[in-house]
Amino acid sequence: MPTTAASITRAERAIQNRHRGAVLWLTGLSGAGKSTVAQALARRLFEMDCRSYVLDGDQLRTGLCSDLGFSDAARSENIRRAGELAALFADAGMIVICAFISPFADSRARARALVPDGAFLEIFCQCPLAVCEERDVKGLYRRARDGQLAQFTGISSPYEAPAAPDLVLDTASGSVDAALASLLLLLRERRIVHQS
Ligand code: ADX
Repeated sequence: MPTTAASITRAERAIQNRHRGAVLWLTGLSGAGKSTVAQALARRLFEMDCRSYVLDGDQLRTGLCSDLGFSDAARSENIRRAGELAALFADAGMIVICAFISPFADSRARARALVPDGAFLEIFCQCPLAVCEERDVKGLYRRARDGQLAQFTGISSPYEAPAAPDLVLDTASGSVDAALASLLLLLRERRIVHQS
């Protein structure tokens, strides 16, 4: 990309922030724990003096994506917008933590393609459907089973698990602290945050 004298490079922002910009893309079923892990990681990064921000499906769907439903096409558009937004945040030097079901592999691949090599980490929040359904925090699984909610992921709409994620988190039986430890190790290994 051509630069001008006035432009600020990613490298300059990384020096100022003392960490690189990146997209951490959490994918998994509704109720798998994506939002919980995302918020806990944002808090930990904040304590480490790193600039981060959470983009969450429930949040974007009340604003930027409020015109979208849950058909395959609407979900693809939802993830396209989320991916574009995440790429801008990362370009601004932030560690963006995205929490979307993002059920389609091709949508996730398109989001990855929007950021430089090494700056997109796909994190699979692995939790069996039965466990998500048992939790049913929002009562949506029951409504889906009762036929009151159509196109529900895992019930009447597909979920494509990542074939080669950068990290798999066991969010069925693993603790939030264990997930944080794995995520911070990955961020250090990939040199997004410093070792110390
Ligand atoms: S995605 O499939 O397009 O990635 P997204 O992460 O934005 O979904 O939104 C998922 C959230 O929307 C769920 O956590 C749930 O609260 C709500 N929701 C409402 N209807 C559905 C549905 N049919 N399928 C999945 N989630 C739904």
